[in-house]
Amino acid sequence: MNDVQISWPNKDLTLYASGLTDYQWVDPKHHTLSNAPELVNHSSSCGSSNSNLVIIGDGLDAIDALVSKTDALTGGIRLLYIDPPFNTQGSFRQYSDSMKRSMWLSMFQDRLLAIKPHLTQDSSVWVHLDDSEVHRARMVMDEIFGEGAFVASVTWQKKTTRDSRAAFSTNHDTILVYAPSGPKKWKTSRNLLAKDEANLQNRDNDPRGPWTDAPFTAPGFRKAQQYDILSPSGEIKRPPRGRSWYATEPTFQSLLEDDRIWFPKNGAGSPRLKLFPHQLRGLVPFTVWGSADVGSNDDAKRHLLDLFPEREVFDTPKPEELLERIIHISTNPGDLVVDLFAGSGTTAAVSHKMRRRWITVERIVDTALEFAIPRLNAVVNGSDHGGVTKQASWKAGGYFEVLQVIPRFGSLGRGNSAAAVSQKVKELTHHEASATG
Ligand SMILES: C[S@@+](CC[C@H](N)C(=O)[O-])C[C@H]1O[C@@H](n2cnc3c(N)ncnc32)[C@H](O)[C@@H]1O
Repeated sequence: MNDVQISWPNKDLTLYASGLTDYQWVDPKHHTLSNAPELVNHSSSCGSSNSNLVIIGDGLDAIDALVSKTDALTGGIRLLYIDPPFNTQGSFRQYSDSMKRSMWLSMFQDRLLAIKPHLTQDSSVWVHLDDSEVHRARMVMDEIFGEGAFVASVTWQKKTTRDSRAAFSTNHDTILVYAPSGPKKWKTSRNLLAKDEANLQNRDNDPRGPWTDAPFTAPGFRKAQQYDILSPSGEIKRPPRGRSWYATEPTFQSLLEDDRIWFPKNGAGSPRLKLFPHQLRGLVPFTVWGSADVGSNDDAKRHLLDLFPEREVFDTPKPEELLERIIHISTNPGDLVVDLFAGSGTTAAVSHKMRRRWITVERIVDTALEFAIPRLNAVVNGSDHGGVTKQASWKAGGYFEVLQVIPRFGSLGRGNSAAAVSQKVKELTHHEASATG
């Protein structure tokens, strides 16, 4: 156990969903998987363990129901990405973002605790937050996964416009990355970022094609790597002070014969190593991610407006490019990606385009029916041409099922009962099918 802990009222109780939007603390002794909530399948096809799933309901209820009633999690979760309400004490068009702090912390803790046993050995957990709760969330994650599981805190530039009325114009969110196996082990299975091949050039018409270059030096003093190199312009070159050449003299000679050494400045510069695409190692990700590389909140909104021009915009969508990078780093095709706070369905849409399996959970029925499900229909039927469709070479295909988990406590009201939602899902599927013809 960590010697410093975060505490809050009712931390040792479990925060279950109650009704449509409320929560209720319950002594975990009285509620186990044996009284897991009811899971209703609204799709015509019926549940294989490989199905992609949209689950309408609360994340903790969904995990309990999946574990006790299906084998959907038996292969393990490779990536958990969550973008929960940040607890900004504000309110968005689609959901309220104001919870008592103790309740928010229990909500966060209990859903992570429930997911933890279903993570694979090489999994990672990415938690997207802003400054409202991120420092407390990190302490909670230290407790759940251990301080040694912390990998990185990624700063994402979410916008480029300035708020001139604020004390500081906040333009970033934070994404906490934890790997239960620890960063050293996880590093051996995660993917590097693709090197930007736009920087390749063929400055000497090499028949092997375009190349990039790197200094022919290495840090530190190594005796066998200290020798004179004669440049084509006739100058003697020596390694800079405190450094050595990248390789010993015999290796340098064979690289030179193989036309792998480049002297810039018309032959007067220091030697550099030519690197062809197959020799380029991918890039280790930085912890600061700019919106020019991975999109901004506004880019995500524009994509949704293209998909649903007649709807009010979804307030807090994340750009597909951001999720593409996260999913690329942490998973391979066929792996299972889980998001317990679907919103407009970005994680599922990108996972689908990148051929990962996915499960996504959204509590607000209208958000699922108006954004996530129609968006995922568009991905499946090939009518979503935005986001990372081109990057992922996505055309169309695959399928998903829509389930609903009925909370243990409170009432959903008639408009959101299983029967009512089932009817709405069928209308949606029917409407989509006739729209795509
Ligand atoms: C910040 S948004 C997620 C946005 C999403 N990443 C996207 O790109 O569209 C948070 C979402 O979590 C949903 N939510 C809040 N509490 C939830 C819970 N307990 N279980 C499932 N979903 C929840 C909200 O309704 C909201 O749609």
